Amino acid sequence: MRIGIGNDHTAVEMKKEIVRYLEAKGYEMVNYGTDSTDSFNYPVSGYRVGKAVASGEVDCGICICGTGIGISLAANKVRGIRAAVVSEGYSARLTKMHNNANIICFGARVVGIEVAKNIVDEWLNAEYEGGRHQKRIDMITEIEETQNLKAAEE
Ligand code: RB5
Repeated sequence: MRIGIGNDHTAVEMKKEIVRYLEAKGYEMVNYGTDSTDSFNYPVSGYRVGKAVASGEVDCGICICGTGIGISLAANKVRGIRAAVVSEGYSARLTKMHNNANIICFGARVVGIEVAKNIVDEWLNAEYEGGRHQKRIDMITEIEETQNLKAAEE
């Protein structure tokens, strides 16, 4: 599996450690972030990872900034992206099972490296459940594509 990873200047070390951790497990990692601690605008790497996931260049993505929030907002502006910010493994697992999140985000200033590893493990090992959740994901897609939601008018 190919995983795109993006980060800003706050998350260089955490990104490198997550890359090492996942490569050791056999994942192919593609770096869309910065390797410098010079100030770097998180929308750039959030957009790059979003585009790579949406186009199929990679299978899924990981985004890390100080909080995980800014980079997730940028990635979520790419059509077809469901980027979820989490701070623990339970939410990471559930956002795959229920929301089919295709990018997982977290904050290098929020979680430590062991929690970050647990987050990526829980998310990568979980499976989307489909069923009743698909209707809700379809609603999110409807909002994205039409700026409207028929169900909200009923
Ligand atoms: C950078 O200072 C910080 O704003 C960024 O890493 C992130 O936390 C934004 O959401």
